[in-house]
Amino acid sequence: MLSKKEKDLIKEIWERLTPVAAEIGADALLRMFASYPGTKTYFSHVDISPNSSHLLSHGKKIVLAIAEGAQDISQLTVTLAPLQTLHAYQLRVDPRNFKLLSHSMLVSLACYLGDEFTPVAHAAMDKYLSAFAAVLAEKYR
Ligand code: HEM
Repeated sequence: MLSKKEKDLIKEIWERLTPVAAEIGADALLRMFASYPGTKTYFSHVDISPNSSHLLSHGKKIVLAIAEGAQDISQLTVTLAPLQTLHAYQLRVDPRNFKLLSHSMLVSLACYLGDEFTPVAHAAMDKYLSAFAAVLAEKYR
């Protein structure tokens, strides 16, 4: 689905974003919470207000997981196996929510990267994040 060139581009973008993982991840989470308030229910046990330490640390974890997956996209089902289990069986996150975070992440990237987020990069990233969300939703079937 993703060409070699697209996979390389995705990998490169996430490697570059690793130093600002907390910032990007927190931004994507806040967008998700604002656009789809129902997603906040999963975080009722923690403080996820803007700039809170949990928001930043959780945002960082999310981005690092996405960046790790990008290292070898052909192995996504293997890399994400622990996260699949966590979200499906422990957290019981409704699988429809994965698409919501993926989309919020795409918007955060567009805002952060500006002109560098070319139409080619945008399309490739959309495909990658969709694949990522689909893999996370797989365990529910
Ligand atoms: C935990 C990644 C989508 C709810 C986590 C963790 C990671 C992660 C890396 C931490 C695991 C650990 O500490 O071992 C992702 C990625 C997602 C995604 C990459 C999609 C692209 C979602 C969605 C929701 C959600 C859509 C709910 C709307 C949670 C919750 C936790 C968690 C509640 C535990 C948080 C805590 O108690 O600190 N996720 N996640 N995740 N995730 Fe996700």
